[in-house]
Amino acid sequence: MATGNFASIVDQVKLDVLPKDPAVANAAKRKEITRTFITDTISVPTEEMYAYATLATLGDDVYHEPSTLALEAHIATLTGKEAALFMTSGSASNQIALRTHLTQPPYSVLCDHRAHIHKYEAGGTAFHSGAAVLPIIPSNTHHLTLQDVKDNIILGDDIHFAPTEVVALENTLNGTIIPQTEVVAISNYVRSVGVKMHLDGARIWHVAAETNTSIKELCDPFDSVSLCFSKGLGAPIGSMLVGPKDFIKKARWLRKLFGGGMRQTGILAASAAYALTHNFPQLPRVHALARRLEAGLEEIGATILSKAETCMIFYDPTPLGTTFDEIADRASALPEPLILGGSRLVIHIQTSDSAVDDFLAMVRQLAEEKKAAGFVKPEGGANGVIRDVYVRRVPK
Ligand SMILES: Cc1ncc(COP(=O)(O)O)c(C=O)c1O
Repeated sequence: MATGNFASIVDQVKLDVLPKDPAVANAAKRKEITRTFITDTISVPTEEMYAYATLATLGDDVYHEPSTLALEAHIATLTGKEAALFMTSGSASNQIALRTHLTQPPYSVLCDHRAHIHKYEAGGTAFHSGAAVLPIIPSNTHHLTLQDVKDNIILGDDIHFAPTEVVALENTLNGTIIPQTEVVAISNYVRSVGVKMHLDGARIWHVAAETNTSIKELCDPFDSVSLCFSKGLGAPIGSMLVGPKDFIKKARWLRKLFGGGMRQTGILAASAAYALTHNFPQLPRVHALARRLEAGLEEIGATILSKAETCMIFYDPTPLGTTFDEIADRASALPEPLILGGSRLVIHIQTSDSAVDDFLAMVRQLAEEKKAAGFVKPEGGANGVIRDVYVRRVPK
């Protein structure tokens, strides 16, 4: 039964989401991004990236979108794999990869205990694939070794166990790089026992930039790889899953099943292409800035928990007599605020040099105030451990 005329329905439906003055609001956001250390996913498209993206083709990706197909073909070639599939996110890419590899339970996925697929995908590996996860603590505390994998992989048909069907590595992991020789050794062994290798390569770009190793060489030891455009590369949305043709064909089906079949993705594919061309070359500068941040913190006397191998460092300010909360509160009260979480500091292509200078000056000032108030640095510094990448700050 009609409850109004069309004009009144139009009135109910319409919406304007733009801020009052978009130019001012977005300029403020762009400025904020240059001073945000929480993650690299907050980096924003530039005007130039948007301008390029609007020229993309207008196809529907469920029926194969031309710009997206071109991106998929390029990444397949770049990684040395037969095929590629554009995904909404790194989590979707990892989870659909695992779901595609794993077909008949019982089975397990072996990974580092800090792995994104284990800790930060909301239990997706259990939910989507019904897989047990074997989260392994690296014996050297830095990266999984061949021995760690051999010691923990489950093989055979003892019915008490869930045999390992996928070993999933992450590179970078918390900004650290797994030596490629170790990756190759793990892969040679794992594949020799008939188990698949998956790489969460959300930030594999950083490994290539830091070690001058080709993306193909980094991906060769893996059956499937997920690579992200929306983190260090600064595109707004999207990841790519690569692997054998049949694997990607099945993954495309599962992507649709999970509701991840997108439509006019040309604009996203073009943003990713722009990021590959213009933002990837900026990574050495990003890593150099991260090293400068680390050197500054060390000089002030903070403990470095995880070094700036690429774009992240983890630190502990306890030896300075201060806390993450105190630092974050002080940072947000600066005339030009800095946005901080906890132990993790991430540098990205839009981090400004002055943000790093201001952060170091602020920490130095805090340390001096604590010293003046009688704080004495404990013998041996701090013995902090990295608890969590994502800081769950409880609102006051
Ligand atoms: C290593 C790693 N893998 C996967 C993901 C998931 O990516 P997304 O947030 O796009 O789902 C992230 C997110 O930051 C990540 O850091």
